[in-house]
Amino acid sequence: MSHSTASSLPRMSPPNIVQGGMGIGVSTWRLARHVAQRGEIGIVSGTGIDTVVVRELQDGDPHDRCRVLADYPDTAIAEDLLDRFYQPEGRAPDESYDLLKMHGFEPSVRSQRILAATTFTEVRLAKEGHDGLVGLNLLAKLKRYTLPCIYGALLAGVDIVSIGAGIPMEEARQIPKLAAGEAAELGLDVDTSQAPDVDGSFAYRFDPADVLDDPPTLDRPLFLPIVSSDVLARILDTKLPDDHVDGWVVETPVAGGHNAPPRNKNYAEDHTPLYDERDEADLESVRALGKPFFLAGGYGSPRGLRFARSVGAAGIQVGSLFSLTDESGYPEGTTRRLIRRLHRGDLSVSTDGRVSSTGFPFKVLTAEDTLADEEVYAERRRVCDLGYLREPYLDGKGRLMGRCPAEPVKTYESRGGDPDEAEGRACLCNALLANIGHAQRRADGPEPPLFTGGDALENLPLGSADDPQYDADDVIEYLYGAVRSGQGGKEGTQKHPRPHPAD
Ligand SMILES: Cc1cc2nc3c(=O)[nH]c(=O)nc-3n(C[C@H](O)[C@H](O)[C@H](O)COP(=O)(O)O)c2cc1C
Repeated sequence: MSHSTASSLPRMSPPNIVQGGMGIGVSTWRLARHVAQRGEIGIVSGTGIDTVVVRELQDGDPHDRCRVLADYPDTAIAEDLLDRFYQPEGRAPDESYDLLKMHGFEPSVRSQRILAATTFTEVRLAKEGHDGLVGLNLLAKLKRYTLPCIYGALLAGVDIVSIGAGIPMEEARQIPKLAAGEAAELGLDVDTSQAPDVDGSFAYRFDPADVLDDPPTLDRPLFLPIVSSDVLARILDTKLPDDHVDGWVVETPVAGGHNAPPRNKNYAEDHTPLYDERDEADLESVRALGKPFFLAGGYGSPRGLRFARSVGAAGIQVGSLFSLTDESGYPEGTTRRLIRRLHRGDLSVSTDGRVSSTGFPFKVLTAEDTLADEEVYAERRRVCDLGYLREPYLDGKGRLMGRCPAEPVKTYESRGGDPDEAEGRACLCNALLANIGHAQRRADGPEPPLFTGGDALENLPLGSADDPQYDADDVIEYLYGAVRSGQGGKEGTQKHPRPHPAD
């Protein structure tokens, strides 16, 4: 992550590009490995990785997880996973997937071991056969998955951890502990309104000694928080010891996936967040913190890379363009269909402040046959059987439980949730798994998908309607191409350029 000046652009050496983490299962090990082999930074996603792996095992293990699990030091859990889920011939077409027991806020050690083992496979596969940089991405909102996933990634030699969708202050403090083989914990923000007599604080705990008898000392990975503003970067910088943060990803709200809520808290009637200049990070202020930083959200173009370098950034983080490559986790037919329809202008990108149970705005591709279509949304029977986005609450008996506003409304209400909160939410857990070809089968058919992507996709610079395909090399060549030939670019301002998806 070395800096160089704008004048050295034509000869700049990698890494200048971070291929952003994309869950669930979009930034696969295959994509991250390819990008890392090119000398850039490849990031796999830890979100939902346990379910991704057990569904793959039930589909005949197309990614060779069995081989990698054979190398995993917690041999008992590796064997357990294979015994329980591996189906060499794959499932029958109409068979439902067998589910893992939901990971609770006070989880079983077994469930933690499964998370660590499955994350290990993803990182290990991404790291095989090269010395490039591979990272693991997690969402700060999903606190209860963070520690075991990071531990599994550490055991596989992960180089970087990147965490977005929240303020990863405590996470930054726990990573060195895990690397040292020590127990770690993350505070939980629990709704205690139904048990007002119970006081005290709540935490999720994870101990490497529950995974391995004698936890080794492991290399501490670099930590790259994903922030939406210089203010957040400065808070983290002030409150954390200097060696806990190694750089920043500064992301604008035109990025694919979840976006930061608007600082003014304003939303249009259709739930579109109304951003203003307060949502633009002051890049000079980030630069002044003295650590490498990458610009994300609408920078996936030669112009974006050139701009980033001109303001002293180490480079750019790109997701949307990589999400539709041959190496992404989407099935081939899905990427082809999305690329073709984007080129034909049949799809647009909208920002939905309602659909995600996280409460964060979420970028949605307005594709028919997905939950973005009102009819498909209305027809889906609500069910919550994966629970990644459940929020902790204490029930009337003081028990620590979880609920999600996308679950059946009556259930949500019975758990103390406000039914107004449930309106318009979609089950991202099931939809995002459907996107990558792992839709759960219900009695009334498969779970419908819901695709995300940034504004960049509306002017997709790669592939075409006639040839709807490109790969990760094409993205890297494209991003460097115009920089090398010294084409245009807006410079001279220390603010983010106005959202401008691609040249
Ligand atoms: C399909 C998709 C899924 C994403 N999922 C995540 C995620 O799980 N965690 C995260 O931190 N960012 C996620 N992102 C954001 C990317 O990592 C990246 O920061 C962003 O896409 C960069 O901006 P761009 O969309 O203009 O390329 C996702 C983006 C896309 C397109």
